[in-house]
Amino acid sequence: MIKVWKCRICGNPYLGDEAPTQCPFCGAPGKYIIHAAEYVNPNPVKDLEETDKKNLEEALKLEVSATQFYACCEGTAESGEDKTMFHALMKVEREHASLITKALSIPEAETGTEPCNSPLENLKESVRREVHATEVYAKSAAEAKDPRVKEIFQALTRVESEHIDMLKPKVG
Ligand SMILES: [Fe+2]
Ligand SMILES: [Fe+2]
Repeated sequence: MIKVWKCRICGNPYLGDEAPTQCPFCGAPGKYIIHAAEYVNPNPVKDLEETDKKNLEEALKLEVSATQFYACCEGTAESGEDKTMFHALMKVEREHASLITKALSIPEAETGTEPCNSPLENLKESVRREVHATEVYAKSAAEAKDPRVKEIFQALTRVESEHIDMLKPKVG
């Protein structure tokens, strides 16, 4: 029988026999998926220390920009598979932006458009962005004073590093 699950990172619900290996919304590893009955809403994060707040705001900028960039990449991708991949990446990064706004208790960010390039350049730029995000988030996780902020950055570091693993073989 299917059960009700919830992702501790993005707060989205999931119905399934088992917890998924990755959250279908934010990509967080399966260890963050819990029974819905055990979920305690962690938002907004109270009494944010200045560094944590600054790091979350910086992450929000990266996520909004990535959302916009991947939307453009979806439009220019040549294969159906790559279009689907960029659509999925766009949705995951949009979810990251959304979970950060909830932590900060600010309105959802407006997403506009951002330019991109040729299909191969877009793949290379995707790897660059994911590598940058992974580095920035690992540093933010290490610096984090608040346990919830640390948890967010540890999960996001993992998600973006999995994006690198997926994208890199496509660049050659
Ligand atoms: Fe999630
Ligand atoms: Fe992200």
